[in-house]
Formats: sequence, structure tokens, C-alpha cells
Amino acid sequence: MKIGIIGLGFVGLSFAAVLGSKGFSVIGLDTDRKKIEKINSKKSPFFEPKLESFLKNALSKSLEITLDANKVVKNCDFIFLAVGTPKLKSGHINLSMLKNASKDIGVSLRNSSKKPIIVVKSTVVPGTTINVIKPIIEKSSGKKNGNGFNIITNPEFLKEGSAIDDTLNPHLVVIGGLSKKPINSLRNFYRKLYGPKIKIMTTNPQTAEMIKNANNSFLATKISFINQISLLCQSIPGTNVDEVANCIGIDPRIGRSFLNAGPGFGGSCLPKDLETMIQFSSKIGANPLLLKAVQQTNDLQIKQIIHLLEKNLGNVRNKRITVLGLSFKENSSDIRGSRSIELIKILLKKKSKITVHDPKAMKNTESIFKNKITYANSLLESLDDCQCTIIMTPWKIYTKLKNSNFKNMKRKLIIDARRILSRKNLSVEYFALGLGAN
Ligand code: UDX
Repeated sequence: MKIGIIGLGFVGLSFAAVLGSKGFSVIGLDTDRKKIEKINSKKSPFFEPKLESFLKNALSKSLEITLDANKVVKNCDFIFLAVGTPKLKSGHINLSMLKNASKDIGVSLRNSSKKPIIVVKSTVVPGTTINVIKPIIEKSSGKKNGNGFNIITNPEFLKEGSAIDDTLNPHLVVIGGLSKKPINSLRNFYRKLYGPKIKIMTTNPQTAEMIKNANNSFLATKISFINQISLLCQSIPGTNVDEVANCIGIDPRIGRSFLNAGPGFGGSCLPKDLETMIQFSSKIGANPLLLKAVQQTNDLQIKQIIHLLEKNLGNVRNKRITVLGLSFKENSSDIRGSRSIELIKILLKKKSKITVHDPKAMKNTESIFKNKITYANSLLESLDDCQCTIIMTPWKIYTKLKNSNFKNMKRKLIIDARRILSRKNLSVEYFALGLGAN
């Protein structure tokens, strides 16, 4: 059995690295030549914990990387499509990479005797596999689904920062297909990969697509819900949003995960998937009232931080502000959809002077702001001379900050968007989202 994986981003590369390191025979394909060269030199093209060591292991065993779609189609029994579906300015998702990859598969399939199972892992709105991808492959291959190939939707639930662990131990596998045989083949593949106990849910492609969208919309809703409660807590002296989350999270009907209040959700998935669900709902004539409120609540979080800042500092023009944490979450170098980037853009408009620090995301941030902001060489250096420090991403090193580290700040004012410092141990002006006044 040979596996093809098209699109070597977080999803595709993690999957390729895990399969290859377990000895599955894998061909990974990407159209980005530089990325291919980097992977072939056993380096990960982006930071993701554990990925590089799994990649090295996989490349030394049974993972091959290529630019050639023909090679994938002529050799593989399963072809996983894991290309990106980023957001267009209009809010709709950009299917061009998925359409191009589907066409390439179809063209190669035309002269191939293989009848592969083509598995769509990319996140798409309901109906896309059947109404967009299947017709493209049928047209370019001259073959029919169910005859020359079989198409299946198999959404991915991994999180950046724990992509390898999530790929090794998924909580669920969702398989959406049009007929029993290919569904059973993919189910058998996953049982071989994860063992007989793995939870597998089978359905049709459009329901599988809806499951993925509903999943991410619900996670976004949980975060906006706790951020709404966080805002209330801030106005009630002595109240602490984390204690609220810890207690309501014990109720099994609620659950503790995704109840960490903060500056709002970022990343390449939750904001985009929420927006596309809103657009999709409107397109099919439904009013996505709740989803719109989730989005508005998320947008409000940055305004809360600016409000706290201006309440304490007054006009922020020409004031030096340090932003700690640039990646959209800890253990990642990814700044796509990062709330920190949004915050910096607003502060620059207000003519603040910005110093930044992040353990992994400085280079990516530099590509956006160039020389408009100051990039500190170290965490301690970033605090020098600033009039306020805003903690945005909960990197572990920031949890270790103590009074003596703040001694060179011009004004010892901290705004902690993630409540990672303990107010009682600090002798600075400390404000946090979700904490009522002392
Ligand atoms: C998300 C989904 O979790 C994953 O299932 C899907 O496959 C892809 O999208 P990801 O974007 O990698 O994963 O990260 P996630 O851990 O979900 O965090 C998203 C954002 O929400 C981050 O900015 C994070 O800081 C924020 N977040 C998360 C909170 O503010 N509070 C929480 O309790 C959890």
C-alpha cells in the first residue's frame, strides 16, 4: 500500500512525517520547490514541536518528497489532499490550490491504471467535495467517481503546536464517502495506523464537511463565551475568570477545554472557518446570528486591551509599548491571524513606539512590520525603557517574569491578556483581562 500526500503544510507534513516514521510507504508532494529542498535536507520548513525529528526518521525510512503529481497518481492507493484553503478578502475561502491539485490528479489519472481513493483533508464548506472537487477530477481524468477513482472527505482536527501528538492520537476519525467499499478501505487503513480501538465515524461527504465546520465554530463559540464572561469579571472587583472557567468546566456538559479567556482566537483556522461559515450561511439563506456574535466578541478583545492601555497611560502617541508574544499561540512561529499583529497595527496607527519579543515568531513578524518596530534581542532587553508591557501569547518563559526583571521599565505597567503572572507576587501596576480590581 502506498500513500500520497499533496500539500505539505502543518496537516500534510505532520501526517507524512508520522506515517513515514511508522514505516508506511509515503510520497509527499508540494508545488513549492524551496520547501521541497528544505524538507529533503531534513529540515522542517516551519517550527512545530517534534516535527523535525519525526521528519528525519520518516525520510530515513519510507518517506519520499516530490514535485511530480504523476509519480503520486501512478503509484499511490490513497491520495490525501491537504492543501491550504486560505481566506479571500471577500471572506469566502480560496479554493484555487485545491482546484489546481484536483486537476493535476485528474490529468495524471487519465493515463494511469490505478484506481486511487482520493481523500480530501483540506477544510471546505459543505458540498465542496461533491460539487467542486469531484467534477474537476472527473473532467480532467475522463473517468467517473466509483469507477476510475473514489473520492472521500476526511477532515483533520489537529492543532498547531501539538500537530505531531494530535496526528499520533486523534480523538476521532471522520470518513465521509459515497459508497461502502472505499469507506471500508479507508477505515481499514486507519485501523492499521491507529489500532482497532480508534473511534471512527462514517457518513456522507457533505456531513463530514459540516462536522469540521461545526467543530471549529463551536470551539470559537466557547472562546468568545468565556471572553464575554471575562469582560464581566473585569468589572466586578475580586472576580477571577479562571476560577469561573475551572468550576463550570467541571460540569461534564460544559468541559474545561477552550475556556481560557484571552485576547481572542487567532490562527489560520478558527477566524477563517468562522468567517466562511457566516458567508456560507448567508449564501444559503440562513441568518448566522450566533456566529456573528462570536466573531464580534472576538474582535472586541483587542479593543479591551487598547481600552485598558489608554485608561492607564492616557494618549499612547510616542509612548514605548512592549508586546510579548507574537505567534497566535504558544509553541508556534505562526503569526497568521495573530491578535498580537492586530494589536501592533492599531498601536502603530496611534503612533506608539513598539518593541516586540517572541521566542520563535520574530522573523515572520519582521516580514510584516520591517523597520517600523523594534525587535528585541532578548526578553529582558525588550522591557528596557518601555511605558507598558502587554503579554499576548502565553509562552512559558513569560510565566517566569518577576519584579526584578521589570526594573528598567520607564513605567512599571503590565497588561496581561492571558493572566500568566500572579498579581499577588508583583509590585508593579498590574492589569489583566478577566480579573476584577483588587
Ligand atoms: C484549530 C482547532 O483547534 C483544530 O481542531 C483545527 O484542526 C484547526 O484550528 P489551531 O488554530 O492550531 O487549531 O489552534 P487552537 O489551539 O485551536 O487555538 C486557536 C486560537 O484560539 C489561538 O489563538 C489560541 O490562543 C486561542 N484560544 C484557544 C484561546 O484564546 N482560548 C482557549 O481556551 C483556546
